Amino acid sequence: MCGIFGYIGIKDNASEIILKGLKGLEYRGYDSWGIAVKINDKISVEKHVGKIGDAKVNLPKSTIGIGHTRWATHGGVTMENAHPHLDCTGEISVLHNGIIENYREIKDELIKKGHKFKSETDTEVMPHLLEEYLKKGKNFTESMRLAFNHCKGLSAFVAINTKSHQIVAAKNGSPLILGIGENEFFIASDASGILPYTRNLIFIKDNEMISLDKNLKLFTLPDGKEIKPKIEVITWNVESSSKENFKHFMLKEINEQPKVIRNIAENYEDQILELAKIIKKSRGTFFIGCGTAYYASLAGMYLFSKIAKKHVNTAPASEFNYLEDFLTKESLIIALSQSGETIDVVEPLSRAKRKGAKIVSIVNALGSTVYRMGDFKLLLGAGPEKAVASTKAYIAKLSILFMLANLIDNNNFKSVKNILLKTADQIEKIVTDGFENKYKNLIKFLSKKENVYIIGRGISYGTALEGALKLKEISYIHAEGLAGGELKHGPLALIEKNSPCIVLAPDDDTYDAIISNAMEIKARGGYIIGISSKKSDVFDEFIEVKETGCSIISQVIPMQLLSYYLALEKNLDPDKPRNLAKSVTVK
Ligand code: M6R
Repeated sequence: MCGIFGYIGIKDNASEIILKGLKGLEYRGYDSWGIAVKINDKISVEKHVGKIGDAKVNLPKSTIGIGHTRWATHGGVTMENAHPHLDCTGEISVLHNGIIENYREIKDELIKKGHKFKSETDTEVMPHLLEEYLKKGKNFTESMRLAFNHCKGLSAFVAINTKSHQIVAAKNGSPLILGIGENEFFIASDASGILPYTRNLIFIKDNEMISLDKNLKLFTLPDGKEIKPKIEVITWNVESSSKENFKHFMLKEINEQPKVIRNIAENYEDQILELAKIIKKSRGTFFIGCGTAYYASLAGMYLFSKIAKKHVNTAPASEFNYLEDFLTKESLIIALSQSGETIDVVEPLSRAKRKGAKIVSIVNALGSTVYRMGDFKLLLGAGPEKAVASTKAYIAKLSILFMLANLIDNNNFKSVKNILLKTADQIEKIVTDGFENKYKNLIKFLSKKENVYIIGRGISYGTALEGALKLKEISYIHAEGLAGGELKHGPLALIEKNSPCIVLAPDDDTYDAIISNAMEIKARGGYIIGISSKKSDVFDEFIEVKETGCSIISQVIPMQLLSYYLALEKNLDPDKPRNLAKSVTVK
């Protein structure tokens, strides 16, 4: 979380270059933003609370500066807490992505030494620490090394100093990418903002530090040994994305899903056969991911059991650190991620790698950290996903897992392809068939509710969880996804007159049992919204989703659309829900 963009070079419009870079990084956090540039021997800062949108910057001309979009961790969303932060002299400015776990004790020490703090952030200790080391006669690079080593936790820091006219950066967590231009350097959280200026990049590794003035120097941490930078010449382009004729990115991305499935059906056979071979050889396969990606991996576990007759394990990636003791060199970790930057995925992968386990990355973002960590890499090919709510990347993951489970079991690619193509057509119908009008009353009814329950069994269990996540994050309605059989073990106590319950009832071996669960809810006054190909008397509202042989993919679409239209009904921004960010790079 948090977007970082820095510039040092010969152009004198650093603040505008930085602002442009930040606009492309807003997906990492949109609580506040700020830019600091060097003006003579002091630093000038401009900060704003809220989204960057089409903001302009009013800073004077400068050839060096840093900027930040914030996703708040320590301290509320205020101007004071917005980055960049300054030291007492106004000559050092720092921005940060991550968490300084021991900031409280560092702050107390610094306060005792007379430093004045203006924010509640953990970050603000860093400029004051740098100031302390400079006072002791260290140069700025050495000060950063010592200050960085003083901090606990996973972080990326970028700092400028007016006296040495220099940018230094160090990291052991969040991504930092350096762009090397003609007499200029760029530093950013991802490559997209740098590629318009240069294709020569350095992906700064964890426990590395760089110093930029007229020259570039790279060091290892914690020892500060200088090493030779490895410059990669990037040949790929970052795909851009606009809303086209859609009101929001989320709606556009929901509409793109048929195209995403068709692409996988038509072009992925060879890669998936190769991956199937790797999985067959492994002794212990683990699917990991976070949020929506975790629900996709849960669906994968059921698909593998049902279709491939193979047991795979799954866990939320944020929990995998606590489950890794049994990993061996023969283990295979399949990481699912849209952004490829989620720290809760990156961290367990690094540990698994150290244990010699093999990594498969299934990601959407080319060049991302998770992508680069993979021994085998597979791109989702869903195109840029801009809305915070993941839709098309989820569908891409499910399509790949469905194909994979089938190709492990047999090589009947033709039938898998046909099922996927039929599913794509079916989804196209749902998204282009006036959903909003058709379910106007349902949307009104749900918008007034505080709680929604979603039940599914077997392969639909993960979909129930994913549907609930979509409702929560986009419409701010509390939604609980449940395995149908679990209701009577407790949650049924919550059901009262008109409690809305979405029932996922595909025409498979779960149908009869889930309908019985729906009856149990209805008997207690619940209002049943059935998503199914088969009508049932128990449904108060029926959302028809025709059976195509892969209901796991199509049944989530009505819930994506419901969440989207509920957000509109409640006057919320579906693309940028409160408190969230597209890329989650803090633990
Ligand atoms: O980029 P990733 O797929 O690794 O992101 C994982 C989750 O943060 C993400 O799926 C999140 O849950 C979405 N906001 C869900 O819509």
